[in-house]
Amino acid sequence: MSAPNSQYDPVEVTPLHPDELARMRDDAVAAIRAAADLTRLKQIKVEHTGDRSPLALANREIGALPPQARKDAGQRIGAVRKEVTHAIQARQEELEAERDARVLLEETVDVTLPWDRTPPGARHPLSTIQERVGDVFVSMGWEIAEGPEAEAEWLNFDALNIGPDHPARTMQDTFFVESEQSGVVLRTHTSPVQARTMLSRTPPIYVVCPGRTFRTDELDATHTPVFSQVEGLAVDEGITMAHLKGTLDHFASSMFGEGITTRLRPSYFPFTEPSAEMDLQCFVCRGASVGNPDRPCRTCSSEGWIEWGGCGMVNPRVLIACGIDPDRYTGFAFGMGLERTLMFRHGIADMHDMVEGDIRFTTAFGMEI
Ligand code: DAH
Repeated sequence: MSAPNSQYDPVEVTPLHPDELARMRDDAVAAIRAAADLTRLKQIKVEHTGDRSPLALANREIGALPPQARKDAGQRIGAVRKEVTHAIQARQEELEAERDARVLLEETVDVTLPWDRTPPGARHPLSTIQERVGDVFVSMGWEIAEGPEAEAEWLNFDALNIGPDHPARTMQDTFFVESEQSGVVLRTHTSPVQARTMLSRTPPIYVVCPGRTFRTDELDATHTPVFSQVEGLAVDEGITMAHLKGTLDHFASSMFGEGITTRLRPSYFPFTEPSAEMDLQCFVCRGASVGNPDRPCRTCSSEGWIEWGGCGMVNPRVLIACGIDPDRYTGFAFGMGLERTLMFRHGIADMHDMVEGDIRFTTAFGMEI
């Protein structure tokens, strides 16, 4: 009997025996298949492929084999490792798919459910447009001025060169507070804010005043006793009608979009001289209905133009009444109806919609800020 030769004699290393390796593989694959979730699978992966797994231990035994047998054993272990890794990967994919499907189901949102039991409501478009007008002028460096709705009769009329016998001062137009003699009226326009501003400040003055105004009109499709205006006033050295036109053109395009055509039409207001009406070219027919009975336009009554508001150069008598030197300063002023502006801007046909407070009307405007 020859002496033992550790180089060449076959050595029995149990963990490397093919049967043993097959058992390890079967154990691992069975455990992997039985893994109920991804956490468990992670543990199993460590148990069967980690540093202390039977496979890793078997791998370490390779060193105990004679050199010729090592390659073979290494390949056997490699093959088992591959099968186990594949099994893990396959199970991982299955478990991930199951998890994703479950998450989708658990986190389903029923988009048909009512999203809120208390609807948030909406701002009235008149409030929104007042702010929008304010923004247009503030962005040009103007300021917002305010005045009271119950106004001194003197500021509402006299300071603005509207004499005591002017028709606007009759009870048919004006709401008097308490008695006709009280000297207090609900302002019939925002123009008294002009007088207030000139009395309390020195030029240069550039202010706009959006606000509520009152006249004893019956509510109908185009009138309401409570309405809104925006007043504008610029007083400075060298102000001309060209400044007025440029300012109103910018205002018009900010409200109705670039490309709107405007015109100034001579008119009369006691507090401006010269005075004008600012007209907008009809949005609907763009003038095509004029002299064209086949294509009448209801929006502009086939006149091609719609009246937007009044304007003019501040009457020197008003400047004097408000303590401003008319030889040094000139100014322009304008007053636009905000309901009219909204009607043109959004195609609102009836004033009733604007005053009735039906939320189906206001919500259509959303929460525009
Ligand atoms: N106050 C006038 C009105 O209510 C509108 C108006 C016209 C205002 C001309 C102005 C202006 O400032 O210059 O009808």
